[in-house]
Amino acid sequence: MTSLRQIKDLPGPRGWPLFRIRLGRTLQLVIADHELLNTLMRDRPEGFRRSPFTSQIGAEMGLPQGLFSAEGEDWRNQRRRVMASFAPGHVRAYVPSLVKVTLRLQGRWRPAARERREIPLQADLMRFTVDAIAGLAFGTDINTLEAGEDVIQQRLDKVLPAILRRVLSLLPTWRWFKSQADRELERSVSVISATIGDFVAQARQRLHDESSLREQPRNLLEAMIVAADEPGSGLDDKHVAGNVLTMLLAGEDTTANTLAWMIHLLHLYPAVLRRLQHEVRTLAPDPAVYTLEQMDALPFLDACASETMRLKPVAPFIALKALRDTVVGDVSVPQGTQVWGVLRRDSVSEPHFSRPAAFEPQRWLDDAPQPLSAAAKRAAMPFGSGPRMCPGRYLALLEMKMAMAMLLADFDIEAVDTPDGRPAQERMAFTMNPVGLSLRLRERS
Ligand code: HEM
Repeated sequence: MTSLRQIKDLPGPRGWPLFRIRLGRTLQLVIADHELLNTLMRDRPEGFRRSPFTSQIGAEMGLPQGLFSAEGEDWRNQRRRVMASFAPGHVRAYVPSLVKVTLRLQGRWRPAARERREIPLQADLMRFTVDAIAGLAFGTDINTLEAGEDVIQQRLDKVLPAILRRVLSLLPTWRWFKSQADRELERSVSVISATIGDFVAQARQRLHDESSLREQPRNLLEAMIVAADEPGSGLDDKHVAGNVLTMLLAGEDTTANTLAWMIHLLHLYPAVLRRLQHEVRTLAPDPAVYTLEQMDALPFLDACASETMRLKPVAPFIALKALRDTVVGDVSVPQGTQVWGVLRRDSVSEPHFSRPAAFEPQRWLDDAPQPLSAAAKRAAMPFGSGPRMCPGRYLALLEMKMAMAMLLADFDIEAVDTPDGRPAQERMAFTMNPVGLSLRLRERS
């Protein structure tokens, strides 16, 4: 048997696919090989946990914690309930409400198109994704799409970037004095907490008024409250509030920015855009009557989503911590080691993908001249992998397909502008976002 390497013996930064970095006095491990990473991500919750930085900073800000930051048995318990609420059958029942939210986005963009106004793309898409999640997960129609400026979505937008800033800052300055941004953040956290309190109170009222709901809760929030009320459930109102916030935070930026990247890439590749327009205008021309079957039968749109997430995964890293001594490849990894998983390396490299930097959605089609092998497809992991894989992926894809189909069915894209006229820059603000996209549309006659 060959002897194991120690982390200290690994090459320094950029010794792909496995190298060490030193932060302060600790050695940390960076892994970019998707197969090794997959093994680690599958070994959860026993072998690895999420790195605790994010949840510690979130808790210090006064944010209630949910599935994303739970570990061990507590995670298992919450995961089961969340998965049940996001199961395809449940999402299917929600399709009419999602159509309503999609039509509101259309209603927001029509006057902008007529008046030739620039559309702040990401902000509008985040209103769309927040409304979509609130409807599905909490049964609340918050309608930020038709509201004015002071909407919950604008408060939420401050939270994730603030968590990332604090995670990365060398000194915890906010503990010693509060800057203007810290005070603004505190205000946002208290508005968010009050709003979540309202969602929970409304759901409790519905459960009180309609006793049959306790047997058949209609959404995640009702199901979590019913579960929390069971004696010995291990869940309480803090878990309920924590999961409301988790769904809002985990489902908003991710889906909106993936859509924004897709719109940007389509604009950069006109031949791909024309092909997608043709598919949508032929198979899904009328957003008012969209069905799940119709959305499931748009193969090129599916391919565009996969290709966007291959090139522009909004979660390009994952931070893990070893819960016991283990071995990764040929490297001995002691308990407590911080591990950084790089999810975007194999997905943009030969030999997994030919012409890896090009946006070529057709490669994902089953009838492509050289269809991707199952192994190559696994090199892209935009939703993570293993037992903690994203529970919102089915909803996210459906939301993206509906918004994208509506956009292409009803409008022509005149421009997708960036601040400097060049392809959009990437900014890591917890999720990886395109910087400053604005959209100009023309209504189709
Ligand atoms: C394009 C959109 C999305 C992307 C790219 C995305 C990506 C991810 C990734 C990479 C993870 C970590 C997975 C892992 O550790 O293996 C994750 C976890 C999670 N996502 Fe998503 N996500 C998206 C949309 C959503 C939506 C719409 C929701 C909910 C409504 C959601 C809820 C969650 C939750 C709760 C977790 C934590 C799961 C756990 O720890 O068990 N996500 N997501």
